[in-house]
Amino acid sequence: MDSATASSDQEGYYFVSSQYNDITSRFSNTSNTQMDSIVEYPETPYPKINETVAKTIDTYHTDFLEAVNQNATSTNHFMENISYQVYFSNDTHLSLAIHAIYASRDDEAFSGSSTEFWTFDKRTGEVVSLADLLGNSTDGRERLFISLRDATKRELERRKIAVTDEELKDSINAETVPSFAILNKKELLFPLGRANEGSSSSDDVEIKLQIDTLQLFLQNDTARSILDVVPIQQPAQPEQPALPSTSTGPGGYCNTQKCIALTFDDGPSIHTNRLLDILKNAKARATFFVLGQNVEKHAAILKRENVEKHEIGNHSWDHPQFTKLNHAAILSQLQRTDAIIQETISKRPSFVRPPYGAFDSNVIASLSSAGHSSILWSVDTRDWADRNASIICNRAVTGASSGGIIIMHDVHATTVDAVPCILKRLAADNYVFVTVSELIGTTKPGQTYYRAR
Ligand code: NI
Repeated sequence: MDSATASSDQEGYYFVSSQYNDITSRFSNTSNTQMDSIVEYPETPYPKINETVAKTIDTYHTDFLEAVNQNATSTNHFMENISYQVYFSNDTHLSLAIHAIYASRDDEAFSGSSTEFWTFDKRTGEVVSLADLLGNSTDGRERLFISLRDATKRELERRKIAVTDEELKDSINAETVPSFAILNKKELLFPLGRANEGSSSSDDVEIKLQIDTLQLFLQNDTARSILDVVPIQQPAQPEQPALPSTSTGPGGYCNTQKCIALTFDDGPSIHTNRLLDILKNAKARATFFVLGQNVEKHAAILKRENVEKHEIGNHSWDHPQFTKLNHAAILSQLQRTDAIIQETISKRPSFVRPPYGAFDSNVIASLSSAGHSSILWSVDTRDWADRNASIICNRAVTGASSGGIIIMHDVHATTVDAVPCILKRLAADNYVFVTVSELIGTTKPGQTYYRAR
């Protein structure tokens, strides 16, 4: 034991089997006139995992002993309780968290708590990072952090605890959340710890996130080995791309030139006509994933989109998360929207962008039975989160690649403000702006696409 506890009245180790049959708890207790400390270490069959967790626990414990030495008075008494919790364990992976709670009889400022959590690969003993899970592009991780911050904000509002967006950004980011915990094959868990240091709330904030809005970023072996990932096939280059009559020659220009598809969701809106003016000026075509309820309000804009050779996709009637609906409700969302589009421009869309990009195998089956494919994206401008034209333009341009699909939303003025910059910079890099069908050809119902090969 540590020399700082040499004056212990009582100290010792003992072992207890946990509910997980291959994990034993090793307790290290110290009880004396200065302090009560209970530290619980998980002992798994994987030495490297034990080492990583013990190292963190030991750091906490050493800091505690140091603080006790510094703050010791004849009357004060200190308390430490470090425990762990297993969230998930199967043949290959283990998710667990450690929770540390501190208190002092005389010194309230000493009180507090900390939480750290990991998912380990049992075969290597290594921590599975968010980058391992969500791929190396920052898009997936940023999407995750935005979801975590939103969920945390909602939870704190529910508890009547004020928090600013800046505080959320500071406390939930790549440095503070390096890993994740698995709850089950469809849900991730983020035990983010004490809601607010010094607040009267003693509850921890635990955020559960469905994986359905992250599917696009989970297309890798690590994610597939842990979670119920819906596979997205990358389509082969179509033999005969469905090119418009203005195409520059046999085979179409996407075979010889760099092509990219700009897509705009959630409209039509009061900002769409200005966007259409900008696109017309640049002779650029785009694809609009419209909401049925907005077509009802802005039928003339949908007609203009069609007349000016843009393509129309279905984005549901009123933007529900399809993974929370049953088959009949998804069909109704799709068919009502198809019907009003058909009625307005005499064309039925052949593809859907599921709201929030959320889907699972049930959603795909419903899309398929409605005769639709699903179109995701390769470049996420996150224009809904950052209402800033230069940020949106930079993300679109730096993420661009030939065959790519860029997602934006024509319901924000700042997005429309960003489009001239995107068009100018990508055109200077020899990109041609085409519709989704021009880019990937005829799509197959039930298939999911996020770019052309
Ligand atoms: Ni949307």
